[in-house]
Amino acid sequence: MEVKPIQTEDGSHSLYVPELDEHYHSTKGAVQESKHIFIDAGLHYLNLDTIRILEIGFGTGLNAFYTLLESQNRQLNISYTGLEKYPLKTEITSQLNYPELLNHSRLHFDVMHQTKWEEEVNITDTFSLKKIEADLASWSTNEMFDLIYFDAFGPDKQPEMWTSPIFHLMGKCLNSGGVLVTYSAKGDVRRGFKAAGMEIQKIPGPPGKKHMTRAIKI
Ligand SMILES: C[S@@+](CC[C@H](N)C(=O)[O-])C[C@H]1O[C@@H](n2cnc3c(N)ncnc32)[C@H](O)[C@@H]1O
Repeated sequence: MEVKPIQTEDGSHSLYVPELDEHYHSTKGAVQESKHIFIDAGLHYLNLDTIRILEIGFGTGLNAFYTLLESQNRQLNISYTGLEKYPLKTEITSQLNYPELLNHSRLHFDVMHQTKWEEEVNITDTFSLKKIEADLASWSTNEMFDLIYFDAFGPDKQPEMWTSPIFHLMGKCLNSGGVLVTYSAKGDVRRGFKAAGMEIQKIPGPPGKKHMTRAIKI
């Protein structure tokens, strides 16, 4: 899939996908969105210190990198699995300005992108990463997670990522009390996760987005 680098309003980079006329992040601010939805409403809401995370759509690695930094700041032990159908080329990821905006060296960010797919690798002593190259539509797992970052392209652009079988797959691999966060607060999305055994919270979204969804596995 062809992607074009852009700069969002908080100064952080994102990517534009001409084929879908869609961005990887909010154009109001990629870093700001990642912090609001995935770090604050997800990671920090879940009051655990050993956490297994699944991300749907690993993409630029922004959410993974932000989570790695939080694991260091808060002494969390994190195993992170990132699913991705279209891995990005190094010439794209090496230009992304997330490390400098988050006041960190590029080292761990670049290592995350350089590690082999399908292998669990310790990036730091608090954060391990397993990247899986797969299509969510035909993926299944026996592993269980405490937290899911559901960061697919929007339901209007990629409806095949927001279907009942996928909502049920997410519900099935989430531990009881586990949390799923996503930027979409569409009624169909909330009803879909509810039907998959989750309690739904419609909570304030990041700038430019009135609401987002937090779903808690019953
Ligand atoms: C909205 S972007 C977010 C990416 C990432 N979370 C980030 O912050 O850069 C959606 C991601 O889902 C990936 N994706 C699209 N279709 C997919 C599929 N069928 N299975 C797995 N990943 C997919 C895209 O390539 C893209 O990386």
